Amino acid sequence: MNRTATAATHPTSPIARVVARGLLAKEKCLPPYLFYDEAGSRLFEEITTLPEYYPTRVERSILVRYADEIVATAAVGGAFPLHVIELGAGTATKSEIILRAVVARQGHCVFAPVDVSESAIAEATERLAMALPEVSVRPLIMHLDDAYPHIRAIGPRRLVLFIGSSIGNFDDDEAHVILERVRRSLAPGGALLLGTDLRKDPSILIPAYDDTRGVTEAFNKNVLARINRELGGHFDLDRFEHVALWNDERSRIEMHLESVCEQRVAIDALGTEVAFRRGERIHTESSVKYDEARVDAMLGRAGFVRERTFTDPERLFAVHLARVPAR
Ligand code: AVJ
Repeated sequence: MNRTATAATHPTSPIARVVARGLLAKEKCLPPYLFYDEAGSRLFEEITTLPEYYPTRVERSILVRYADEIVATAAVGGAFPLHVIELGAGTATKSEIILRAVVARQGHCVFAPVDVSESAIAEATERLAMALPEVSVRPLIMHLDDAYPHIRAIGPRRLVLFIGSSIGNFDDDEAHVILERVRRSLAPGGALLLGTDLRKDPSILIPAYDDTRGVTEAFNKNVLARINRELGGHFDLDRFEHVALWNDERSRIEMHLESVCEQRVAIDALGTEVAFRRGERIHTESSVKYDEARVDAMLGRAGFVRERTFTDPERLFAVHLARVPAR
């Protein structure tokens, strides 16, 4: 099999195709979901425990405080028990807070975690089987884009969790496509719980994405390590620098990997080399920081009505309960 010769024109795996498209583009970029292989998922879990990384801690505190109210609001007017779907579930530690409240209210439920990380989903499934046997877990190991038909099959009354500010990885048009698909996968009366990180001073934001222990740096660089592992890439991780910057105009944190020198990097599975100028960057992630108007515009455009917003006393993070109106 002459894989390298044909791969240049016909990259075989989906990952090869995405990497080829991103790195051979004029403005190099890689989609953030590529971070989350087993090593990357572990690094992300470590990020969530860092003192600088407030989002997970603060969102968890909001969920702990308001879980009963969130679930009661989501369940309003329904004759059927709520079933819960989570987009980008990871290890589902925060969703467990909501699931406990659902079980307390109705005794049992189905939980369908959607995630590309097989290892994270496996951990979630095992932990929940022990901690909350009243919950039937139906793991969906796949990309969001493929999950909607499965979501429709979990029913009849659905609460979709899209927490952790994962929505912030997407620009407004991409977010719209996702939210509209979520809305279409819900019947009227169905509910969405959306977590959004909020705009705040860059002196808080930047350290959250550039921690002193270098965990976020390792997380960012893991995408290159993954290309080395899975696609026969030859990236020297020391020849790239982790960059986290605040883009005020677009109200988002951006992570980049900046080439510290001029270099060419071969990627065997693509049968090609990628050329970098000194200082050239690969844009690896955007993380939008929202204000209320932007959340309302986003939800409204996708056909949701925002019913309640739950936040912390410092207004660092917000969790919104939105509903598909009866038509
Ligand atoms: C999982 C997308 C919400 O944007 O804060 C953490 C990912 N990146 N540190 C975020 C992330 C760098 C995270 N999200």
